[in-house]
Amino acid sequence: MTDWSTVDALDPPKLTTLFERDPGRVAAFSVDVAGIHFDFSKTHLDAAGLAAFEGLAKSANLAAKRDALFAGEPVNTSEGRAVTHVAERGEGSEEDSAHAAMLHARMRALIDAIEGEALGPVRHILHIGIGGSALGPDLLVDALGRDADRYDVAVVSNVDGVALEEVFDAFDPHATIVVIASKTFTTTETMLNADSALAWLKEDGVEDPYGRVIALTANPDAAIEWGVDETRILPFAESVGGRYSLWSSIGFPAAMALGWDSFSELLEGAAEMDRHFRLTAPHANAPMLAAFADLYYAQVKRCETRATFAYDERLRLLPSYLQQLEMESNGKGVTIDGTPLDRPSAPITWGGVGTDAQHAVFQLLHQGTHLVPVEFVAVVEGGDALEEAHHSSLLLNAFAQGAALMTGRASDDGARNYPGDRPSSTILLDQLDARTLGALLAFYEHRTFVSGALLGINPFDQFGVELGKEMAKKAGEGGGDLDASTRDLIQRAFGE
Ligand code: F6P
Repeated sequence: MTDWSTVDALDPPKLTTLFERDPGRVAAFSVDVAGIHFDFSKTHLDAAGLAAFEGLAKSANLAAKRDALFAGEPVNTSEGRAVTHVAERGEGSEEDSAHAAMLHARMRALIDAIEGEALGPVRHILHIGIGGSALGPDLLVDALGRDADRYDVAVVSNVDGVALEEVFDAFDPHATIVVIASKTFTTTETMLNADSALAWLKEDGVEDPYGRVIALTANPDAAIEWGVDETRILPFAESVGGRYSLWSSIGFPAAMALGWDSFSELLEGAAEMDRHFRLTAPHANAPMLAAFADLYYAQVKRCETRATFAYDERLRLLPSYLQQLEMESNGKGVTIDGTPLDRPSAPITWGGVGTDAQHAVFQLLHQGTHLVPVEFVAVVEGGDALEEAHHSSLLLNAFAQGAALMTGRASDDGARNYPGDRPSSTILLDQLDARTLGALLAFYEHRTFVSGALLGINPFDQFGVELGKEMAKKAGEGGGDLDASTRDLIQRAFGE
């Protein structure tokens, strides 16, 4: 039985007091791994907090749950299957890792063939997918591919035709490959976008339009039925969850745009974080410490949100990627055995880009009545070639915000009073390359896993999205037994 009593009783002193009392606090609550510095010292974790969470982890059998994940045991119990994204990095069971390596080899062979113009000239990649089949690849290409001139990549997820049309206007259909990314190959938005992209190729007189289509899926039969040739289907294992799938063939556009060596580096960086997570004691384990701090704020202080600010334009898509990873994984109302959760589930993940966010939402963070644990993600080596002043200003702003949130500033004038004692963690990457980004994303995956494991929930299913899909279908069929408001909206939009 997971015992929260010691954690619930935690009552740490103010952050500034923690620093005053312990001159070694920064070192004690920082971890360096895989080219990333994680600083948790501006959170309220202290020795007592750490001990309490270590006790909680023991009572929740965290180590055994982690080992079961890496061993490829069926930890996704509601769907009766294993969870093998770590095998994509070679860190799963021997069998799962060998299977993933075989599928990677297939992906690499197709990339080589495309580079050798087996599909004719290719300059543009139109990647169609949604959720986990889009957010990961989009983030990778946006973060790492800015200077890559191998191919233009567009990731289209929204069913709103405006998104697709924009790409049709920009790309030459005769030099485009259409990549349909869908684990299930049934997602309605993706399939409609795929149909429209195929029609675009046909309308423009592309010879053999199906020959320009590639499918990334765990359901190859459905892709074949849709019309994709077996040789251009890059399968991945059913046990790789959508939001954990960028390491599989779902990462295809990134591997194309950045080159295979970069894609391999991404996997190696993630593998380094996997080993760190698997082999390091909790007090020095970055994903565990991060999850402990997350749980302290969400469960003990009852914070309803947590915010991540990327102080680097190249990481601007990180907050939306994390929203799916964290909320689709741990936004659950029941534990793994189906009993109602008697604690809050995952907090709402939100965030933005620094320094923009400072001039929009930081007012609330500094003086609002909500306590929001904040995370800063920054990179020591900048991505621009402009005056040093740009990047140093960016970094100094990130660091200053963390300091201001913590120390605050007392004033008799309430409007000018900063209460302080507001927590933040800072994640500082040496540089933004494929290896480091791989490690960072694996860190977030494991942090999410730890939170789920300690709450006793299954982070690997997502039944919560099904009802909306069913209702959308019903609405499309006329809305028959839907409520009056929804029927009225349908009537207004579509008439009789
Ligand atoms: O609707 C939610 C979801 O199932 C996500 O979990 C998933 O990443 C996304 O839809 C896309 O699914 P698919 O890859 O099967 O098209």
